[in-house]
This record gives sequence, structure tokens and C-alpha cells, in this order.
Amino acid sequence: MDPLIEAFGLTKAFPVSRTWRQMLRAERPRLKAVDGIDLTIRRGDSIGLVGESGSGKTTVGRLLLKLTSITSGQLTYRGDHLDRMKGARLRGFRQQAQLVFQNPFDALNPRFNIRRIVAEPLVNLGVPRAEHETRTADSLRLVGLAEPQRYLDRLPHQLSGGQLQRIVLARALVVGPEFLVADEPVSMLDVSVRAGILNLMRDLKERLSLTSFTISHDLTLVRYICSRTLVMYLGRIIEQGPTEEIIARPAHPYTKALIAAVPRPDVDQPRDALPISGAIGSAATPPSGCRLRHRCPYAFARCASEEPPLIEVAPGHTAACHLHIA
Ligand SMILES: Nc1ncnc2c1ncn2[C@@H]1O[C@H](COP(=O)(O)OP(=O)(O)OP(=O)(O)O)[C@@H](O)[C@H]1O
Ligand SMILES: [Mg+2]
Repeated sequence: MDPLIEAFGLTKAFPVSRTWRQMLRAERPRLKAVDGIDLTIRRGDSIGLVGESGSGKTTVGRLLLKLTSITSGQLTYRGDHLDRMKGARLRGFRQQAQLVFQNPFDALNPRFNIRRIVAEPLVNLGVPRAEHETRTADSLRLVGLAEPQRYLDRLPHQLSGGQLQRIVLARALVVGPEFLVADEPVSMLDVSVRAGILNLMRDLKERLSLTSFTISHDLTLVRYICSRTLVMYLGRIIEQGPTEEIIARPAHPYTKALIAAVPRPDVDQPRDALPISGAIGSAATPPSGCRLRHRCPYAFARCASEEPPLIEVAPGHTAACHLHIA
């Protein structure tokens, strides 16, 4: 099947403040939040992106939705270059690709009622007013709010966290998208309501044949809804493959440490996982060679001099670590 989204060398750099020395030399230091990643998303895929805070996950999500500009590299949606997309094609894309916000308490305007919040994307896309009421109600039913009339006139603070997260989903679905990016979709919710929302997301994905890209620092969440997983570290993808294979046979020391850090009995602990100590550091000053080397208990000389490329360790499963390069 043709890919829905393809990225080659996708890079996003942000300017960072300069030191006096850099000013005198007219240097413009930049932080590469996303540093040359390749990605293929096929229709119907459910892809997860995991990594520590600051690894660049949200920036990847924003690039995929054209919410931020590309610094370099290529990104196509159905073969069209996103950075050149304009006019009717861009409007089509805005309808097809939607974001599910991380925190419903921040994402929803507290003064707007639910009717207005859910219908907002319809207004933005110029859908005729006459259709708003039915489409809004349909969307609320779709996310399990069976009696839409009970919710339409309420304000966000009158609903529970779980109901609000359903509203956030309804708002993303109201325009009938085919591609959803969900950034930490349940991180603000109580554990007791998380499972309900995750089940709903899984169910909607099937029913609406959605393609999804789910961002989380929690591998168990990604395991629940994603068939393929990408592991990100300081702007780079360092391992990717089928989710179950990555959890059962992680190849990168970083992925092993991420799995070992999951305090849950349903995840087998990798036997050879050593803890990755210290903090992630800044993408403004990545180390030479392998970006993880200062924190990696296995690091050896070559890790400082050469950056390991992603190589295949099993069919469809790649990792970027010198331990796997002969
Ligand atoms: N608008 C911006 N301007 C400058 N730097 C930015 C901007 N957005 C992100 N960054 C930097 O880019 C890096 C990656 O940020 P990003 O938010 O993508 O990470 P993340 O993996 O989503 O982290 P988290 O798990 O905390 O959400 C960080 O160092 C961050 O400080
Ligand atoms: Mg983020």
C-alpha cells in the first residue's frame, strides 16, 4: 500500500540564545529538536513514539501536522510536499489530519460551551452552519457520550477529566479525519479512567479505519494501542520495529532501560538491562558519536567517534547501536 506519510532526513532546529563569544563571531547556535529522521506511515498503521522528556516527540507530531515549519529534509502526505501545500490542498489536509491535545484542561477554552468547542473545527473549515448541530451530536455519540443534548450547553469545568478527554476526541473527529496525532493522550487523567479512554481510542481506530500516531513516554500505553513503535533520543530515532518485538527483544541499551523502568508485572524485564544514569542533556550540544554514550553503561571507544546508523537486527526491526555492528 502507498504510504500516507513519508519523511526523509526530517529536521527541525530552533534558535537558542547566544553567548557573547558566539555573538562576536556572528554564530547562530541552534538546537535540533528533530535531527534527520526517516519515517514511513502507511494507511491504517498505529505508530507509537516513545522517549524521555525533551527527546523531540512533540516536535515530530507538530511537523507531521504542519503546525510548525520544516528546517530541512522532506515530508510528504499522500505524495504532496507538506511545506509547499497551499489553498484547497492545505484545507483538505487540515480536514484529514487532526491533533488530539495532551491536556484537556489547557486545550479547551473554559468560557466556551461544549457545542462551540466541538464545532470549532467545522467553523475553521467553512462547513455550512446547518450541518454543525448534527455533526457535533454525532461526534459526541461516537466518543461514547450517548446523550449529546446533556453535554452541549455545559462548560468544560462542569465535566469530569474523562468526559473532557472524550470531548477533545470528539472535536478532533468532527471533521472526519483519516490521520490522528495523539500527544500524551491520557497523561493528565486518573489511572481509573485511562483504560476507558484507551479502549475508546482503540475501538475508534478500528471503526473509522484511522491511521494513528501516538506520542508517549509510557511504553505500556503505546503497547496497548500501537502495532509499531519508534524510540526517540535527542532528536534521533534510535530503535524502531513491531511493538511486541521491541518489548520482547529490545536491541538498544536505551530501550532496554526504558522497559526496565516500567514498574508493571505485565512487561517482562530484559535480563541484561543496565540503568541509564543521568539526564538527557540538551539537543543544542549533543555529544559526538552516539548521543547516549555518556549515559550508556556499555559505551566503548567507537561510540565517541562514530554515530551508529540504524541497522536491521531482525526483519522490520532496526536499532542504532555499535553493539549490533560487527
Ligand atoms: N518552540 C521552541 N523553541 C525552542 N526550543 C524548543 C521549542 N519547542 C521545543 N523546543 C526544544 O526542543 C527539544 C524537544 O522538545 P519536545 O517538546 O519536542 O520534546 P518532547 O519529547 O515532546 O518532551 P516532553 O516529553 O517533555 O513533552 C527540547 O529541548 C525543547 O526545549
Ligand atoms: Mg512533548
